[in-house]
Amino acid sequence: MKMARETILLKNGKACVLRSVEPEDAEKMIAYMKIMLGETPYLLRSPEEFDYSIEGEAEVLKRRRDDPRALMILAEIDGEIAAVSDVTPMGVKSRTLHRAALGMSVRQDFWRQGIGSAMMERLIAHAQQSGFEQIELEVVTTNRRAIHLYVKYGFQVCGTRPHGMKYPDGSYANDYMMCKTL
Ligand SMILES: CC(C)(COP(=O)(O)OP(=O)(O)OC[C@H]1O[C@@H](n2cnc3c(N)ncnc32)[C@H](O)[C@@H]1OP(=O)(O)O)[C@@H](O)C(=O)NCCC(=O)NCCS
Repeated sequence: MKMARETILLKNGKACVLRSVEPEDAEKMIAYMKIMLGETPYLLRSPEEFDYSIEGEAEVLKRRRDDPRALMILAEIDGEIAAVSDVTPMGVKSRTLHRAALGMSVRQDFWRQGIGSAMMERLIAHAQQSGFEQIELEVVTTNRRAIHLYVKYGFQVCGTRPHGMKYPDGSYANDYMMCKTL
């Protein structure tokens, strides 16, 4: 789904454009994902595992843009992608149509500027308008920054999964399932 382009002012006074993705963003998106995934242990993939071709990524972005119930938001600063987030239907089976999944990432250089909060507000509004009844996400239990953001917007922990992730050194991370009723 498309979202009207907006410019917001960050805490450091910089302008940040929030807009929905387009297939033409594919090359920039691959570059963003490779940098961002290298900056955090809290997401499911390592940078090497984000191995889409530009054509493949453009196809994914086109599907996201054209899905009337999905919304993928880019935050751009000086023409560079600073953050990406999305709300997508949990599935197509009739008994899960009321559930949406949420994902979010911000490049480290742009943390604590209010981008995560600004994207969250727009994703929640979109999910409400699209008829979803709840938004769900998973977050590593030690990811305090993300958990703070989710609790601030009304998400509650509804379960803990042991060993949701295993790292190359053999260590594990547990994750919380969090849910917000709309
Ligand atoms: C989690 C993440 C999305 C937050 O984005 P952000 O743009 O920095 O968020 P905001 O600037 O809107 O800040 C959100 C809140 O977190 C708070 N916060 C920042 N760092 C914090 C920390 N270390 N501990 C607790 N709270 C923290 C901020 O103060 C703010 O709260 P406030 O509005 O009450 O002051 C971002 O850090 C990120 O992408 N991290 C890496 C990827 C990731 O973990 N994604 C989530 C996977 S589930």
